[in-house]
Amino acid sequence: MTMYSRIIGTGSYLPEKVLSNLDLESMVDTSDEWIQTRTGIKQRHIAAPGQTTSDLAMEASRNAIDAAGIRASDIDLVIVATTTPDMIFPSTACILQNKLGIAGSPAFDVQAVCSGFIYALATADMFVNSGKSRNALVVGSEICSRIIDWNDRSTCVLFGDGAGAVVLTQDQKPGILSSHLHADGSYNQVLSAPASIHSGEMQGTPFITMEGGTVFKFAVKVLEEAVSEALRANNLQSSDIDWLIPHQANIRIITSTAKKLGIPEEKVVATVAQHGNTSAASVPLALDQAVRDGRIQSDQYVVLEGVGGGFTWGSILLRW
Ligand code: UT7
Repeated sequence: MTMYSRIIGTGSYLPEKVLSNLDLESMVDTSDEWIQTRTGIKQRHIAAPGQTTSDLAMEASRNAIDAAGIRASDIDLVIVATTTPDMIFPSTACILQNKLGIAGSPAFDVQAVCSGFIYALATADMFVNSGKSRNALVVGSEICSRIIDWNDRSTCVLFGDGAGAVVLTQDQKPGILSSHLHADGSYNQVLSAPASIHSGEMQGTPFITMEGGTVFKFAVKVLEEAVSEALRANNLQSSDIDWLIPHQANIRIITSTAKKLGIPEEKVVATVAQHGNTSAASVPLALDQAVRDGRIQSDQYVVLEGVGGGFTWGSILLRW
């Protein structure tokens, strides 16, 4: 009998501190009008100095585990997608596992930048539908504010901090129907935080740098392709899709992709105005919002998509 993996609980967490576009006006040469027109972002959340990526992940995970109606001890796989881990090692997933008071099952991080949650969920799906895991916890958690140059107006207005999580369980009923992952490393310098550690010294620039226009064009092209690939693989039309949950980087990327796909705006979940680009956390944050406010209903077709540094990109099609 074919086994599927199915999301049975979602959760999210946003740090308390909110940084508005007006706040940014007093920090760099920018305006609320420019930021809203070019990106759709109104505000972003910023982690407190003592908070870590695993702290944010922990809050989101608790919410997802509660929503799933299971106990933390039922979790037998922990995957965290992050580009801003607590430390070089151990993985943020191991630190999260310990904070959840569990041990023994595999725990590891996935690094695919803004596509991280798509990569992590596709990986967890393979563990769960093959029977290797029964209940997987999949988290996207980021503190982007710590790798931003707050004097660089071209990047500092775009990003924010947050976490989203899902519990994925084995079921005879779908579930995740397909996942499609891609990467093209020839773009590795177009979007990066190009620093490394050598004998205790940092070399390079530890801040997000990007060619915004190149990323924008590439994003719209590959997101359309990744969703079309998912539709073809399942013999579905774009009109069959009930909800498109895109990576939340820029409202113009989101609406351009939806338009190319012929998916109407009412079926697109957009949260970028409230939390900016939270990298690997953006898709599970948007998913949790649409689940909790009752938009996503049983049996509906939902497509998740993401694109990010690497470049990496991908899509996941599921039946709720
Ligand atoms: O998750 C994946 C990661 N990243 C992305 O998805 C980002 C993809 N790219 C984008 O979202 C857009 O390219 C940006 C929002 C980054 C930029 O928007 P744009 O419409 O491509 O603007 P631009 O870079 O062409 O800049 C237009 C102007 C420039 O001035 P000049 O040269 O025309 O005089 C910039 O210097 O806007 C200026 N500018 C700003 N002005 C006010 C750039 N940043 C700002 C700012 N405030 N924050």
